[in-house]
This record gives sequence, structure tokens and C-alpha cells, in this order.
Amino acid sequence: MLESEIQNQEEDQFQNSLRPKKINEYIGQERTKENLKIFIQASKNRKEPLEHVLLYGSPGLGKTTLAHIIANEMESNIKATSGPAIEKVGDLASILTNLEPGDVLFVDEIHRLNKLVEETLYPAMEDYKLDIIIGKGPSARTLQLDIARFTLIGATTRIGLVSAPLRSRFGMTYKLDFYQEPEIEQIISRSSQILNTQTQKQGQELLAKCSRKNPRVANRLLKRVRDIAQVKGDGIISKEITKKALAMLEVDELGLEPADRGFMRVLIEKFDGGPVGIGTLAAATSEERDTIEEIYEPYLLNIGFLQRTPRGRMATKKAYDHLGIEWLGHKGLNL
Ligand SMILES: Nc1ncnc2c1ncn2[C@@H]1O[C@H](COP(=O)(O)OP(=O)(O)OP(=O)(O)O)[C@@H](O)[C@H]1O
Ligand SMILES: [Mg+2]
Repeated sequence: MLESEIQNQEEDQFQNSLRPKKINEYIGQERTKENLKIFIQASKNRKEPLEHVLLYGSPGLGKTTLAHIIANEMESNIKATSGPAIEKVGDLASILTNLEPGDVLFVDEIHRLNKLVEETLYPAMEDYKLDIIIGKGPSARTLQLDIARFTLIGATTRIGLVSAPLRSRFGMTYKLDFYQEPEIEQIISRSSQILNTQTQKQGQELLAKCSRKNPRVANRLLKRVRDIAQVKGDGIISKEITKKALAMLEVDELGLEPADRGFMRVLIEKFDGGPVGIGTLAAATSEERDTIEEIYEPYLLNIGFLQRTPRGRMATKKAYDHLGIEWLGHKGLNL
């Protein structure tokens, strides 16, 4: 196993240990929670499974966590899989036929289901039926199987890539937003209690400010700052030690890391701030287009460093100011 894989596994275990289990422990996303609570209660009163739920939003905002919470609140078993893991219709058939009534099937990265598998899912979602084709050519026939009434929870970072027919078969769709700073603070405070780490209010505030409005980033930073506090300080997460740790990690006051700043610099220095097409940017930064769209862009758009225009991506004055590059205005564009 590669060292990076071991690190990823450790990171996953760490993040798992911090996962809230109950809806009331899930911080923020108030509207989504309010809605879900009502629909969960109503389904339980009717003793029916919950309608299918689609969750979307940037990586680390809590989709997987919420899916598990929904199953837990429904007192249901959850089976978790992902779009790319269901390679063949047969794989899906075996998953669906093994479901018990009321089970939750969680499909992560649902935008990556292949077409045939996706089409098999439609009647399963709508009528709890599974159409299987047996044989080939003229002697082929369709067999229809009944499956248990289940709840599908789909998650995706790329709602635009979920086909309209699939989207329309979900009873509810929720977008998870970036978190407010006080919410991230609460998450950090909750996590430090679980980790038995002492955090001072100002340290917590600074950490929250640099966490990109994202719980996963907050937990990751907390873990690293805690390590640094233990080695270089007295183990307490104070403002001073947090500052020192963030500097060591090259995380700036907006939570940007070297890779984000590098990305903005390419856009500004090589392309005069844009507009430039995503393909060209991907080539110039040696990043995958998907990485740019899923990882870099959402937060840079959120903090107003980037604009998406029909002619491509553009850096805003705010981005120039942050990077200390002189702003001469976009040629003829009013930004
Ligand atoms: N609302 C929340 N309250 C408290 N902790 C949260 C919340 N949302 C997420 N977390 C924490 O952040 C971590 C990341 O969340 P999660 O894995 O659910 O994100 P995700 O949206 O599924 O990301 P990805 O798209 O990468 O799969 C979790 O381990 C959890 O501890
Ligand atoms: Mg997830």
C-alpha cells in the first residue's frame, strides 16, 4: 500500500469518528434539516419508507453524513455503494434483490452510474420492480421481479451531470451549502470535545475562518493544528499556536492553500485574469478539469475570487488584491 493511501485511510477513519449520528447533532443546513425532520416523522407515522432523497453539494459539506443520519432517524439499515462501483445491471440487481423493506440504499457519486444501470434503476425507484432480460436475440424475454420498498439516497458533487429522468424520480432534492463561520466554530468545538483537545475561543475562531466554510476542512485543520500544538506548544489550541500552525501549513486567512493560490496566479498571470476556457486552464495548471470544477472553483466562486462567464473564467479585483497583484481592470469589462 502506498503511504498516501495509508494516510487517506487514516484520514477517513478520523473523519468517520467525528461524524454526527443524529439529526440534532448535525450542525447548520437548517432548512434541509427542518424539511427532513417533517418528512421523516410523517413517513414513520405512516409506517412507510421515506421518499427517495437526492443530496448535492461540494465535497466535505456533509452528504454522506446526512445520508447515514437519515437512515438512523428512520431506524433503517443502510447499504452504501457508489455510482462507479455498480458496473453492470447484474450488480444492481443483486443489490436491489437483497434489500429488506424499509432499507436505505445510499449511492454516492450517483452522477457516475452508467446508462444501462441507471435505466434499470428507474422502475425500481418508481414501482419497486426490477426488469431483467434473460437470454439473447429473438429468444430473449423480460422477467419482472418485485423488490422491497426501499429508500434511495443519492449523493453528488455534480448535480449538472445527473440526468433529468433520474433527478425527477427523487421525491426530494437538497442542496448542501457552504457553512457560516459560527457553524464551523460549533463543528470545531464539537470535534475538539470528541478528540479531548482543549481549544481557546480565539483559536477556534481563527481556525473556523480558515476552514473554507467546510466541515471536512475544519476537522482536518483541527487535527493538524492539534498535532503542532502538542509538539510545539502545550497542547492547547490557542490563537498563537493556530496562527503558527496555519503559517506552517501555508494556509492563508481565507483558507486558501498553495494550490488554490497557484491556480489563481495562472489565471491572472498567464491569461490576464481571463476570460479563459476551462479546458485551457486545466492544461495550463496541469490539473484535471474535474478537479478544477469540483475542488477549486466552488469555494473561489463563493468568496468572489472567480466569475464564470459564457466566455470563460475570470479573476475578480478581490483576487488580485488578495494576491497582491496590481489590478488594471478588465479590458472593457465592468467587474
Ligand atoms: N453538519 C455537520 N455537522 C457536523 N459535522 C459535519 C457536518 N457535515 C459534515 N461534517 C463532518 O465533515 C466530514 C465530511 O462530511 P461528509 O463525508 O459527509 O461529506 P460529503 O459531502 O459526503 O463529501 P464527499 O462529496 O467528498 O463525499 C464528516 O466526517 C463529518 O465529521
Ligand atoms: Mg461523501
